[in-house]
Amino acid sequence: MFPIVRRKEMAGGAIILNEISAPKIARVAQPGQFVILMAGEKGERIPMTISDIDPVKGTITIIYHVVGRSTAAFKRLQVGEGYRSLAGPLGRPSEVEGVGLAVCVGGGTGLAVIYPIAKKLKSQGSRVISIVGARTADLVILKEEMAAVSDELLICTDDGSLGRKGLVTELLKEVLEREKPDLVVAIGPVIMMKLVSEITRPQRIKTIVSLNPIMIDGTGMCGSCRVEVGGETKLACVDGPEFDGHGVNYDLLTQRLQSFREEEREAMMLHEKEEMERCPMKKEMEMEEE
Ligand code: NAD
Ligand code: FES
Repeated sequence: MFPIVRRKEMAGGAIILNEISAPKIARVAQPGQFVILMAGEKGERIPMTISDIDPVKGTITIIYHVVGRSTAAFKRLQVGEGYRSLAGPLGRPSEVEGVGLAVCVGGGTGLAVIYPIAKKLKSQGSRVISIVGARTADLVILKEEMAAVSDELLICTDDGSLGRKGLVTELLKEVLEREKPDLVVAIGPVIMMKLVSEITRPQRIKTIVSLNPIMIDGTGMCGSCRVEVGGETKLACVDGPEFDGHGVNYDLLTQRLQSFREEEREAMMLHEKEEMERCPMKKEMEMEEE
């Protein structure tokens, strides 16, 4: 078992942080890499990018949005309990060496993935401008952590409840009017990464994005994580997950991400039914609320 040593709920329990004891993985993991976790013996294998690594304590941190049956099962795990299986580190580490000025653009839970990259850039002596955005203030995660690894931190929310009212792409355009970065890293919704890449393309600014297609084995065997980059088929689990943002076929990625929507919806409904059976009190409370 891989025990949880620290657990934090954010955004009213919609986003969960787990710091997990996994000394062998923590010793060798690098920013940009991911792990595959299973909550129980029969659970689904879920890939998660590592948000933080502490080789001294022997821990790695993951942050996830509770969006489906498996992440709902992860959410039930408390400190002292743990993951049945944890495989990794997988994927290629971020390649961000020798960068003078970097702009890190993180949207929503993509911030959990961009944080270790911004941290690596800062520790290497790069100047880091971070642009972070989410729908509302409570969904802006890792504010203090991002501030600590950024020379400048710009925040925006869709509803204006924190920072500027607007989208990360608007702030990026403003930054590019006054700065000439060597690198832009964009991680968040596919549409956000696509639009950031379109903004940086005319100026030929190197742009890295992190892709999260459906993964099964995470080791290049099943082909489920196929993505198209620069007209070639790549496997996100072994060739990525980070790729040149200007070469990614985002429309194909969106299409593939949507292919299991119906199955995911059915799995979530089944999970909710199981939860009701497991906890009849919850059912009564929900009926009272109605
Ligand atoms: P979200 O949809 O709330 O968007 C977050 C922010 O991204 C917005 O506040 C906005 O600033 C920006 N954004 C979104 N749509 C935009 C658009 N059309 N134009 C310009 N900017 C836009 O994000 P969420 O609900 O937190 O979802 C996060 C997404 O990130 C999920 O789709 C998840 O799969 C993805 N994600 C990706 C990775 C990865 O490794 N690539 C990791 C974690 C999460
Ligand atoms: Fe199977 Fe990448 S997850 S090949």
